[in-house]
Order: sequence, then C-alpha cells, then structure tokens
Amino acid sequence: MAATVVLSTFADAKDAYRSRDLRQSLYDEGEIVMADTLVNLHGDEHRARRRVENRLFRRETFELYERELFPAVTAATVAPYVVAGRVDLVPLGHELMLNLAALTAGVDRPDGTAAETARLYAYMMRFIEGATLAHSTQDRDAQRAVIAQALLDWDAEFLAPSIERRRALDPDDRPRDVLACLLEHEAELGITHAALRREVAFFLLAAAHTSATAFVRAIDHMLGWIGDHPEDADRAATDALFVQRCVHETVRLNPSSPTGRRRALAPVRLRSGTEIPEGATVVIDLLAVNRDPELFGPDAAGFDPGRAVPPGVAPFGLSFAAGMHVCIGQDLAAGVVPGSAVDPATHLFGLVTGAVQHLFAAGVRRDPEHAPERDANTARPYWGRYPVLLGGST
Ligand code: HEM
Repeated sequence: MAATVVLSTFADAKDAYRSRDLRQSLYDEGEIVMADTLVNLHGDEHRARRRVENRLFRRETFELYERELFPAVTAATVAPYVVAGRVDLVPLGHELMLNLAALTAGVDRPDGTAAETARLYAYMMRFIEGATLAHSTQDRDAQRAVIAQALLDWDAEFLAPSIERRRALDPDDRPRDVLACLLEHEAELGITHAALRREVAFFLLAAAHTSATAFVRAIDHMLGWIGDHPEDADRAATDALFVQRCVHETVRLNPSSPTGRRRALAPVRLRSGTEIPEGATVVIDLLAVNRDPELFGPDAAGFDPGRAVPPGVAPFGLSFAAGMHVCIGQDLAAGVVPGSAVDPATHLFGLVTGAVQHLFAAGVRRDPEHAPERDANTARPYWGRYPVLLGGST
C-alpha cells in the first residue's frame, strides 16, 4: 500500500501546496461532480482553465458584488425571517450564499420565484453531497445515482437555458460570470459539455457551501465571544473591520476542509528535509497548521478577533490553501486582509463579513428554547440546526 505522509507545520504545508509534483486528490471519491473541475485539474490543463477564470475573479468583480449586488440580496433574503422573529442559520446560510454563487457561476433564475430558488437550492445540496461523498455516512452508490440524475435534471432546467441566453446576447452584454467566461473560451479550452456542466455545478457548491458554513460558524463564535465580552456587542453590528477579523479567525479555526490532500507524481523533498516517496498520499493537517502556538500564540486553539499574526502568515492561516489551487474566491468571500491603515470606503471586507454583520444588525441571538445541533449525516463537524432569534430584544 502507498505511504501516507502527514504534514502539520505551516512551512511544510505551504511548500507542499506549491509543489508541482503533488497532485490534488481530495475529491477522488467525489468524481461524480468533481471530475476535471478546476480544483481537480493539474499542470497545463489547470493553468489554462485558471487563466481564463482569473479574468472574472478581479477586484472590479468583487467590488460589484460586495458594494452593489450582495447587500440588496442579503437584505431581501433575511427580511422575512426578521418579521418572523426567528430563523435556522444553517439553511439561511445556504440560501444566502446560493444567491451569490448563482450570480458568480452564471446560473439564471428567469422566473425569480421562491419555488424556482427552492429547486436550485435542492440541486446545489445534491452537488455538495456529491463533492463530499468521501465523508458520507450513507450508502454511497445509491447517493451517486441520485446525484448523477440531479446533474442532468439541473442541466435541463437551469444550465441549458442559461447557456442559450448567453449565446443569444451580444458579447458586450453578456453577464460577468463563470459560465459566460467558459463559453467564450470553449474552443480554446476544448471543454466538453459534460465537463462544463460539472465546472458550473462545482462553482455553485464551492462558493456557496464554504461561505455558508463560515457564516454559521462565525455567528456561533461571535455569540460566544460577545457572551464573554459584552462590550463588543455593538461592534458586531456596526464595525465591519471587527466582523472581518471575526470571520478570519473563524476560517482559521474551522477550515472548510480540515485536511488538504495530494498524491505524489514523483519523489518530493520539502525544504524542511521531509521526504515524500512517489505514489504517496500527502495529508495536510490544516487544523494543526492553523492552531500552531508558535505562529498563533499559546491560546491558538481559542477564538480571539484581536489576535496578532507574524509577518507572512495570513490571519486565516492556510484555510484558503496556497500555490496553484489557492482559492480563487478568497477575496470575494473574506475580503482583503487589512493592513495597518484601512480606508473603509475602498476596503473589501468580503461577502461573509457583510452577511454576518447584517445578522448582528438584525439582532441575532441564541434561542434559549432550541439549542443548536450537529449534523449527524456526515463525519465532518457541521452544524445541522442552529435556531436563533431575530428582531426586537424580547
Ligand atoms: C470561506 C470561504 C471559502 C473557503 C474557506 C475556501 C477554501 C478553499 C480551499 C482550501 C481551496 C483549495 C483546495 C485545495 O487546493 O485542496 C479552494 C479552492 C477553490 N475555491 Fe474556495 N473557499 C471559499 C470560498 C470560495 C468562493 C466564494 C468561491 C467562488 C466564488 C470559491 C471557489 C474556489 C475555486 C474555484 C477553487 C479552485 C481553485 C483552483 O483549483 O485553482 N471558493 N477554496
């Protein structure tokens, strides 16, 4: 059996992420959705696809989403729950982030009805199930068959009309999204329809699932922090920089995937001297790396939005990875890491920050009668239910 090498230092992890001889292998079990998607491509194929998609993931796009598109979508999504006075943060996170992800991926919802969004939501949840099959506690073959069918049904209902609309538009009028980008460069990339279908589905889940879990976890950490530091209660609703620090601290403590995984295409020697034999599986232990007391202090396992980090280390550790697969949506989700002087008028805070701050401004607090519960359908530490109260302080 091939060897497994576990990396648990920051330096080794960063080195491994940058090695060209270490190939992505985190999603081997999730091929049904993840085969030849950006995060699974390697070498020249990855470079060509990333170059095309990087054209979309630029500051102008992030500004458009953060300043214009997303605040309105967040307000509209949350408003009915404020009226109801309560919400479960888990489905709310996915509903909110689906709205962002659909815009980014290029999945149109021409009817604009709640029923249509509910159908897209159900498809996205299936794709998330597909990508994370490795951690499923259910019958995986049965799940695979359901997910394969969901991809075809979603294509007929959502993807095909979105493609048709883009092809019919004048190039200058096409929306700035992943689908439009891929269609424009279809021939150059030599991408098949099935691969394009998976890529758009992958973007839908990659953007929504990670941001949604960060959203719930950030609110959970912040409610705990405010319980111990009531003087910070107002900052959660009004100080975007404070909220961004809380989001970064959350993402450090809870990377969307607790491990990175690679396969050695050739023998690799890391700068520390660690040897990785050809064929070995490399497991990057992000939980250990991101909680290293040498870098993050003796209380590294705790939540502290005021934490200082050494130069060259991001406040979220390696939770967005590094090297060729570094998250393309990092600035979109978590904003730009603030320097010593921040101009709030131009700073990018990230969409998770905006959504979390919106919830605190809406008076989010724990529901004393309904405790949050973990998700029992996966071995991963996700929240399954997180009921909260909103609105007035009764
Ligand atoms: C808190 C939010 C997020 C976290 C923690 C996160 C984390 C990550 C990580 C760790 C990777 C690298 C995986 C690996 O190399 O094994 C990654 C890649 C990626 N992420 Fe994110 N992500 C987030 C949000 C987003 C958003 C909002 C988008 C899309 C708009 C996105 C799109 C992608 C894509 C397309 C890749 C693959 C990049 C490549 O392979 O070149 N992510 N993300």
